[in-house]
Amino acid sequence: LAWELARQGCDLVLVARRQERLQEAAGEIKSLGRRAIMVAGDLCDERVRAQAVKAAVDQFGGLDFLINNAGVCALGPFTTASRQRLHTIFSINFFALVELTRLAIPHLRQGRRPIIVNVGSILSHIGIPNASEYCASKFAVRGFTESLRAELLSEGIDVLLVSPATTETEIWDRMIETTGPTAWRAKRGATPQFVARKIAAAMRSGKRELFPGLPPKLVHLGRSLFPGLAAWIAAWKQRTLPKELPPEP
Ligand SMILES: NC(=O)c1ccc[n+]([C@@H]2O[C@H](COP(=O)([O-])OP(=O)(O)OC[C@H]3O[C@@H](n4cnc5c(N)ncnc54)[C@H](OP(=O)(O)O)[C@@H]3O)[C@@H](O)[C@H]2O)c1
Repeated sequence: LAWELARQGCDLVLVARRQERLQEAAGEIKSLGRRAIMVAGDLCDERVRAQAVKAAVDQFGGLDFLINNAGVCALGPFTTASRQRLHTIFSINFFALVELTRLAIPHLRQGRRPIIVNVGSILSHIGIPNASEYCASKFAVRGFTESLRAELLSEGIDVLLVSPATTETEIWDRMIETTGPTAWRAKRGATPQFVARKIAAAMRSGKRELFPGLPPKLVHLGRSLFPGLAAWIAAWKQRTLPKELPPEP
């Protein structure tokens, strides 16, 4: 997404914990002739959030958009999960997103066609078994986004909710925890490049909601029109799970 936006002429502040990955991304952005500032740190830390916003204001003279994309996931039943798992997921997927937004809004008010992009998930719209904490965090993102959109409308700040279905990214290899068998493992999904292009286009056109690609659109439509069927499928998937974790490939 950073690359896609740089290609379209944006300068970017990039935030993540892994410095080497930031350097890779910043290198690619600079090769496109754009500026990239790296802030290596945990977005759950308020100093890191403040540093990111300050970097944009000090070095770029302001902020035109904020993309809240950082997120983590865990898979496994709720009943045997630790409290920590819930806290870890909400800290980054929800609280960091909300608090970074709070910091950014005063600067976005001065921005050109300002927009906040919150990356939710198709699981912002439908709950599935064995991902309760993740679903809850993404439903929370959707609620926050809808409410904020209405609040900021009169100020001219757009707020976009992005709800992708399975996307082939590192999230599937970097689950913070996987406990027990689960039907919800990535097989094949959209490419990150496809989702990034759709997000960039939605930002330009001032869309409020984006379901990138056919699968999330169909799931959303199915869930809205046939909620009972969606619940039945989720329960059926859960009933037909194997009792043991499959061996590592
Ligand atoms: N992949 C899917 O199937 C899918 C589907 C629907 C929605 N989504 C959502 O899409 C968003 C992006 O995920 P992805 O699929 O692209 O996963 P990803 O490849 O694992 O990317 C997640 C990014 O978030 C950063 N991050 C995670 N925790 C952080 C923290 N505490 N502080 C700062 N940065 C942090 C990671 O960098 P570091 O680890 O270096 O910090 C990484 O750059 C997430 O919100 C996810 O929930 C993904």
